[in-house]
Amino acid sequence: MSKFVPVAQVADIPSGESRAYVVGDREVAVFNVDGVFHAIENACPHQGGPLAEGWIEGNIVTCPWHAWCFDVTTGAMTLGGYTTVDAFDVALDGTTVTVASEPRL
Ligand code: FES
Repeated sequence: MSKFVPVAQVADIPSGESRAYVVGDREVAVFNVDGVFHAIENACPHQGGPLAEGWIEGNIVTCPWHAWCFDVTTGAMTLGGYTTVDAFDVALDGTTVTVASEPRL
């Protein structure tokens, strides 16, 4: 059963940036898009590139290794659209960012 795991304070992830955190046995990339937080798996399905270190423009992150692009709100690939990364629900508990321990279905 999924539960929300505290990973950071809101101030730890400035708008337009991302950070990687371990949630259970997964590593997730948490993005701040204009004050709204989103989380996707931190491993690109191509060759495992760290998406939290990618380039962010709006709600799109570009993998730092070979430039595959993903929508951080859904995990969907935005060019080609033939794969996705898992997306996780994010909730705020006061000023604490929490991430669901299981991906969204
Ligand atoms: S590892 Fe992400 S595009 Fe290759």
